[in-house]
Amino acid sequence: MAATVIDGKAFAAQVRGQVAEHVARLKQDHGITPGLAVVLVGEDPASQVYVRSKGKQTVEAGMKSVEHKLDAETSEADLLKVIEDLNNDPSIHGILVQLPLPKHLDEDLVINSIAPEKDVDGFHISNVGLLGTGQKSMVPCTPLGCLMMLRDHHGSLSGMDAVVIGRSNIVGKPMAQLLLGDSCTVTIAHSRTKDLADVVRRADIVVAAVGRPEMVPGDWIKPGATVIDVGINRLDAPEKGEGKTKLVGDVHYESCAAAAGAITPVPGGVGPMTIACLLANTVTACCRANG
Ligand code: GUN
Repeated sequence: MAATVIDGKAFAAQVRGQVAEHVARLKQDHGITPGLAVVLVGEDPASQVYVRSKGKQTVEAGMKSVEHKLDAETSEADLLKVIEDLNNDPSIHGILVQLPLPKHLDEDLVINSIAPEKDVDGFHISNVGLLGTGQKSMVPCTPLGCLMMLRDHHGSLSGMDAVVIGRSNIVGKPMAQLLLGDSCTVTIAHSRTKDLADVVRRADIVVAAVGRPEMVPGDWIKPGATVIDVGINRLDAPEKGEGKTKLVGDVHYESCAAAAGAITPVPGGVGPMTIACLLANTVTACCRANG
């Protein structure tokens, strides 16, 4: 039977609609407008696209959007001062520093200088610790979006075998914590994992977040499993014309879709959910700040 295609684009539109309704109520009933500040250092083209999208969708949801674009040579002290000012600005409820940062900046130091309650990325060490111990925290947006799609498709995830391929702080590790929180049996696989194919073949849920185009083939997928593809890789596509490119995920879509029970497409799967969850986290931060 053909796999169900999990429509992240439609789901994200629904989440954004709920966020916009919540924002309208906060304004009307309490005179509060949630505010999100995004800080971009340098001119990385992919980061510029993401930041533009985040700003646009923040405004569309009725929230205040502030962008700080700093040049690639910005000193650590200057960046920390920008963050300190945002920490102290009561009209800003969420702060996101777009990663990766230029090499001369200490990413951990910068992230940990964000007030934890405004850390809508959930990357601050306090939020990482709170998530790991099952306490109320800010949850990283991409894994949160994946979890929402999984819950929507399955209802309960309790007792399912889940494999997360990739151990990044942004996706792999928090994804594993969230699945564990939903009572899955979780394996984190990575570049040194032995017999990756066998590990993946045992899984009811496969989350691929490695950043390697089409690395998971269909014959690794247990029949009927759910495949969540976090990868967004740009490949040359000469078949579409000279100089053309296409986006592919970390799984080989056609063969994995043939084996899976459900699968997220690229584009239109996890990607749109990430920004929707960022908006939702900003509203959550605003509500917590205002009791
Ligand atoms: N770069 C790639 N993904 C992300 C993300 O989720 N948050 C931030 N801040 N930077 C990123």
